[in-house]
Amino acid sequence: MGHLKTMSSRASNRKLTPSQRNRVRSITTPLNEWYAVRHRDLPWRENQDPYRVWISEIMLQQTQVKTVIPYYERFMGRFPTVVSLSEADEDEVLEYWAGLGYYSRGRNLRVAAQQVVRDHGGALPNDEAGLRSLPGIGEYTAAAIGSIAFDHAVPVIDGNVERVLARYLTLEGDPKKGDSNTLLREAARIALPNEQPGDHNQAMMELGATVCTPRAPGCGDCPIASGCRANKLGRPEAFPPPRQRRKPEIQHWLAAVIVTPTGIVVRRAAEDAPFLKTQWGVPLWPVDDAPDPRQAATKLRALVRSEFDFELGRASYQAEIKHSITYRSLRVHVVTIPASTANEQTAPRTVQVGDAWKLPGLHRKIVECAARQSTNN
Ligand code: ADE
Repeated sequence: MGHLKTMSSRASNRKLTPSQRNRVRSITTPLNEWYAVRHRDLPWRENQDPYRVWISEIMLQQTQVKTVIPYYERFMGRFPTVVSLSEADEDEVLEYWAGLGYYSRGRNLRVAAQQVVRDHGGALPNDEAGLRSLPGIGEYTAAAIGSIAFDHAVPVIDGNVERVLARYLTLEGDPKKGDSNTLLREAARIALPNEQPGDHNQAMMELGATVCTPRAPGCGDCPIASGCRANKLGRPEAFPPPRQRRKPEIQHWLAAVIVTPTGIVVRRAAEDAPFLKTQWGVPLWPVDDAPDPRQAATKLRALVRSEFDFELGRASYQAEIKHSITYRSLRVHVVTIPASTANEQTAPRTVQVGDAWKLPGLHRKIVECAARQSTNN
């Protein structure tokens, strides 16, 4: 009993006041009129094709619209249907994902496409439980696909929507927790119309992305500013309260750009690598501290020698590049080293500089850094 009591006292049963509910109801019409005129023409908004909507929503997780657009176009060009995606090799799907980050999204998409073909006759399921049974689709993505592709009247709550509603209602707490979360969810439900719920949800996200921005929001251009309490207080940026972020962890790595007659050597990262697991890229090794350039070149030469069967030339330090992966702030010390393979048996996999876009963003940067330095020399 004590246990149940703890559970229920933690769950919030706060409700919006009647006047807050009225104010939230008054969002719908002006917001949707604004969206009809101001929405961005984005490639996934051309139609309601569930496959197209699905791919876009997965790419848009943790990634901004302007970053996603070229990836989306390229991905849809190569995998235009669920069947084409279900039949693809994982490596090729990851090539098309390279640079977007959070690669489990790409892996899950392919497995989910196989499940859709096998269990759902090739059509994305049009109910929440069916959608959520697919890898990579949780509450948020199921709501986005359900409303945008299938006109289900379910609210979508992402970081943008949280910000819009936290400001509108001056919610003081973390929008992901407790009372603030409960009130925000109630508000999102109340604001949602039954007609064209997908457009409404996209309008809420669009407002957060383009007007109700984290810094310097454009309240003068906001269609719902007159009901917004944070605007009335004159300090919209104070809501929602800033999140506690994990402190970035600085890590130093050596990167080997091994240049052979057939291209730059790539290999698969280990299953238990700290990031970019099992993905193709140039060899990397962690080091404790920032090495000086000469140390880096010597150490790298020894590491390459210990793991590859190459005739090696002179190792040259090129540059340090910075790259963030989730909470890791990487400092990657790039060293180039010419090599020729000792025998055909151990012929390594290689890439050309022009194909570096197929590698994860970190590795693309490393290869491009080495190519830039070699043209400067
Ligand atoms: N973020 C996630 N999904 C989105 C969409 N459909 N439109 C705009 N921003 C989004």
